[in-house]
Amino acid sequence: MVEMKKNCKTLIAPSILSADFARLGEDVKDVCDRGIDYLHIDVMDGAFVPNISFGPAVMKSLNGIATVPYDVHLMVEEPIRYIKEFVTDNTEFITVHQEACKDLEATLDAIHELGVKTGVSIKPGTNPEVLNNLLHKIDLILVMSVEPGFGGQKFMDNSLPKISYYRDKREELGLHYLIEVDGGISSANADLVTEAGVDVIVAGSAVFKAPDRSAEIKGIKGIA
Ligand code: DX5
Ligand code: ZN
Repeated sequence: MVEMKKNCKTLIAPSILSADFARLGEDVKDVCDRGIDYLHIDVMDGAFVPNISFGPAVMKSLNGIATVPYDVHLMVEEPIRYIKEFVTDNTEFITVHQEACKDLEATLDAIHELGVKTGVSIKPGTNPEVLNNLLHKIDLILVMSVEPGFGGQKFMDNSLPKISYYRDKREELGLHYLIEVDGGISSANADLVTEAGVDVIVAGSAVFKAPDRSAEIKGIKGIA
């Protein structure tokens, strides 16, 4: 199982937070045409994080333009109140923060009941063990490598042992969740998270601001 993963290319999920919002549809079409795997949708509520991004209407405006599934990252207090709004035919994962949920298990059950895969994210200060009793209900673990709230921050390497922890735990328990990392990653440092065992890399500014987006995407995925 782990050997097979090693031979697979890392997946990439560009974050539309760093797209040009005045031409969001064109930017999304452009990256979808360049061999990406998911679109990462960063939703910020101004309470869980000190920034406000956009809500479900903006995400839904991309249905019919996006040709890859949505990986929705809810940086929202008590996201159980809003998950239904983010369910579309394009939505593959809805990821909530462990730190933002009073009842994480109920939130995960609600996501599954809506026919969507579950994701749980942990902030840089959160220990990976906090998810241990719910790993069997999680389809994707999102390890934050910056404090959530803003694009363009510096990568924090305390994410690396957490990625390896979840990789080892998955093998030990025979589980199948994906491991994703988010924040400060570009083609210059993607090898660090790949070697630690990550499956999906989120990259916002590195992809959308790149002079050659195709080259940057290939560099992050580790395709020579
Ligand atoms: C931060 C967001 C990230 C961010 C990544 O709160 O969750 O997805 O947009 O941006 P970069 O890749 O620029 O660090
Ligand atoms: Zn994100």
